[in-house]
Amino acid sequence: MIRYLTAGESHGPGLTLILEGCPAGLAIDFDEINYELSRRQKGYGRGGRMKIERDKVIPQSGIRHGKTLGTPISFLINNRDWENWQDVMHSVNPMPDDLTGQKAKLAYDNTRPRPGHADLSGAIKFHHDDLRNVLERASARETAAKVALGAIAKQFLGQFGIEFGSHVVRIGSVELEGYDLSLSEIRERSEKSEVRCVDPATEEKMVAVIREAIVKKDSLGGVYEVLVDGLPVGLGGYSQADVRLDGKLAAAVMSIPSVKGVEVGMGFETARRHGSEVHDQIYYDKDGAKHSSKNKGGFYRKTNNAGGLEGGMTNGERLVIRAANKPISTLYQPLDTVDIKTKEAAVAIVERTDNCVTPAHCVVAEAVIALTLFDVFLDKFGHDNMDDIQAAWQRHIDFEI
Ligand SMILES: Cc1cc2nc3c(=O)[nH]c(=O)nc-3n(C[C@H](O)[C@H](O)[C@H](O)COP(=O)(O)O)c2cc1C
Repeated sequence: MIRYLTAGESHGPGLTLILEGCPAGLAIDFDEINYELSRRQKGYGRGGRMKIERDKVIPQSGIRHGKTLGTPISFLINNRDWENWQDVMHSVNPMPDDLTGQKAKLAYDNTRPRPGHADLSGAIKFHHDDLRNVLERASARETAAKVALGAIAKQFLGQFGIEFGSHVVRIGSVELEGYDLSLSEIRERSEKSEVRCVDPATEEKMVAVIREAIVKKDSLGGVYEVLVDGLPVGLGGYSQADVRLDGKLAAAVMSIPSVKGVEVGMGFETARRHGSEVHDQIYYDKDGAKHSSKNKGGFYRKTNNAGGLEGGMTNGERLVIRAANKPISTLYQPLDTVDIKTKEAAVAIVERTDNCVTPAHCVVAEAVIALTLFDVFLDKFGHDNMDDIQAAWQRHIDFEI
């Protein structure tokens, strides 16, 4: 139903994004989009770049007087850092051959690929002998564009009472030990925490392990959780592999740079347990809804090990997606590599880098999950204008089996 594309190098003039398929008549809050962009920039463990950028969307098309037209929406996000990179990244001018100091390093010293990054495979794929031609686009700067697109998806879903929350549950060896909080409490606490952790004592330990890694010139990854309330029953499908919502969500989250694992609900733990301990038993309350969705009717579960998905569809309970991101691969104490020109043993290049980005991952994952849900929502309820979609959604919500 929707299609989107992003373009832009990390240190080029900026990012460009296009969203096709957004229905007409959706009111857009630009401050809210920019707020989402600022959430992505935060988190203990981010590098110097985030102190330079003040990400904001510059609307180009598809929105008139604050409402969508049903035509392609496009935005620009300028890179403030571009000012410092014009010589090295210019689209038209040739690379100057007289750069000195740090600029010379960025311009000419790009032949030692970083283990864990796209550098070497990208260079072989595209026949590049300058790794900057790869790393500029492989950089997760692109995720700013995803967050802006996801903010539109969230604003659409918000019209139907669908709400998001996310938080970090592990950084390196420090893990959050269980929690029992409402979505709004999770949001409130994680938003206040510099590592998006809902428990202040665990947060302190998380900050300490990141600090320790920074001192050792090393990096850390983590595990985080995205939660979505209010999804109607029956988004997605079971009839073909490509309509299963669990597959679409896993693909979206796995596409975030450095994600190495995705779980739905109890995830891998289900494999260790008996069926009787895993499956969420079904109950009925004649007085009505006791579940996360707005659907009328009293079917509900006392547990949510399935994470809100059964048979590739939403089942009316909270959507729970967990993801693991590996440690950042650019290290200030660089790892062994081979110089692609000389074929001699070397150490990897060092770009200015983050040390831990698990908190920022939460925001990016919310965005790609929102875009995936936006797509299946339009598939179920129509896609041209908000009036038709609202009416179809209401009919579905009012339906009782
Ligand atoms: C928000 C965000 C920020 C990131 N920042 C960095 C960074 O500063 N340095 C780095 O080496 N990798 C960073 N990464 C991870 C790389 O983009 C990623 O490891 C790389 O593209 C290789 O892809 P892969 O890890 O999925 O194989 C970041 C990822 C995200 C989501």
